[in-house]
Amino acid sequence: SMVRHYKFNVVMKNSTKLCSTKPIVTVNGQFPGPTLVAREDDTVLVKVVNHVKYNVSIHWHGVRQLRTGWADGPAYITQCPIQPGQSFVYNFTVTGQRGTLLWHAHILWLRATVHGAIVILPKRGVPYPFPTPRREKVIILGEWWKSDVEAVINEAMKSGMAPNVSDAHTINGYPGPVSACSSHGGYNLSVHPGRTYMLRIINAALNEELFFKIAGHQLTVVEVDASYVKPFKIDTVVIAPGQTTNVLVTANRGSGKYLVAASPFMDAPIAVDNVTATATLHYSGTLASTITTLTVPPAKNATPVATNFTSALRSLNSIKYPARVPLKIDHSLFFTVGLGVNPCATCINGSRVVADINNVTFVMPTIALLQAHVFNISGVFTDDFPANPPTPFNYTGTQPTNFQTVKGTKLYRLAYNSTVQLVLQDTGMLTPENHPVHLHGFNFFEVGRGVGNFDPNKDPKKFNLVDPVERNTIGVPAGGWTAIRFIADNPGVWFMHCHLEVHTTWGLKMAFVVDNGKGPNESVLPPPPDLPKC
Ligand code: C2O
Repeated sequence: SMVRHYKFNVVMKNSTKLCSTKPIVTVNGQFPGPTLVAREDDTVLVKVVNHVKYNVSIHWHGVRQLRTGWADGPAYITQCPIQPGQSFVYNFTVTGQRGTLLWHAHILWLRATVHGAIVILPKRGVPYPFPTPRREKVIILGEWWKSDVEAVINEAMKSGMAPNVSDAHTINGYPGPVSACSSHGGYNLSVHPGRTYMLRIINAALNEELFFKIAGHQLTVVEVDASYVKPFKIDTVVIAPGQTTNVLVTANRGSGKYLVAASPFMDAPIAVDNVTATATLHYSGTLASTITTLTVPPAKNATPVATNFTSALRSLNSIKYPARVPLKIDHSLFFTVGLGVNPCATCINGSRVVADINNVTFVMPTIALLQAHVFNISGVFTDDFPANPPTPFNYTGTQPTNFQTVKGTKLYRLAYNSTVQLVLQDTGMLTPENHPVHLHGFNFFEVGRGVGNFDPNKDPKKFNLVDPVERNTIGVPAGGWTAIRFIADNPGVWFMHCHLEVHTTWGLKMAFVVDNGKGPNESVLPPPPDLPKC
């Protein structure tokens, strides 16, 4: 293993899309940002220098950060932000991990433009558990507003209402050839006839789950969230913000141009329309004037297309990559996730949209929780996050109009190495909606999922404890539930939140505090000397 050094200069850069130009926050002037490449077990040092007027922090989404929570990145959870003119070196090791992940800003809505790929290659000499592709390509899906993104969310928070939807989605930074007013032809995926390619697809959009498909080509899914899966063929994959999917695609059509489409998946009843991003798969030797073979993206409410993909996911569970699903459970938790409405005197309708877990709307602290935990600073958080929603709590029906969420900076305490089962149940207080829930610091197994209300007597009997998919971000289905299991083997403070950024802003977040163990390698390492101060 080796040490890899990166320098991330956070700088403003003008960018023109959809016929309008605006300054955006970038890393090294790039959108999407630079790809971070490492091998399993390498140490990565990223010096982040903040040259913009915003506070900044960067999260290495899906990197386990074993004992190095200080490098995890969510502002006010594991670190105070890097202030303008300041810098911080993120120092972590990608222990026992390989695959595709992403890095992104973890403060305000900066991740709209501050994001990029993390490619962790297997150790030298270790092959993929599938035929080695001829080439690999990173495909980053994004979301674009013509106006300033911080202004969009600030406006929404003032009014108490939902923010403006984006104006386009992007594939590797481009809305694509069929978007209105796109001066650039879009991303070109060039292929040689007969060769097989691996696409490392990343959803870095702020608020949208996306379908991804390529006209005339099947995709063989081999990995999600940097965990190998049993390979399967499919036409359309669905990727939630924060999730990654590696697929193999064989250029078996001989020649031509084929449309690549990333379109929104919204199974909420009040789905706001949004725009499909496109790119072109281009066979070498094909004339530029050749007509592109088109494809029709799934309807935005095509739940069966999404279910078709998610229900096919299984851990590879080979001898080399076994699925270590916890069988005995120490903490059995049931969390409702959803949206609600609280009164608000200064808001336009006299009320504001809020989001919650177990009816708690999380309040961000002003000192990083990990610092408060390690240095025993009292008054920053409480560890009374409820293991269950309040009763009676009708999570699929309408609540009385005077019903409100509770505000607090509440954490749930887990003993080192304890095993956790967490059922995430969507609520319909405002409207049922898909919530891609991301857990920092751990991978988990999705042992079950279903529509309607989770039944604690019947549903666990159907759990897959053999080869469930292993992920770090899971789509809780609209009006349904999902059950995950993990081992709390990483001491520290670990954020869990909906990866639709608007839901996080509204409060759909909480954190676990995992105590140090007794052994010498079971505690959080000391903080780095340059850790930013609040
Ligand atoms: Cu990718 Cu806490 O986020």
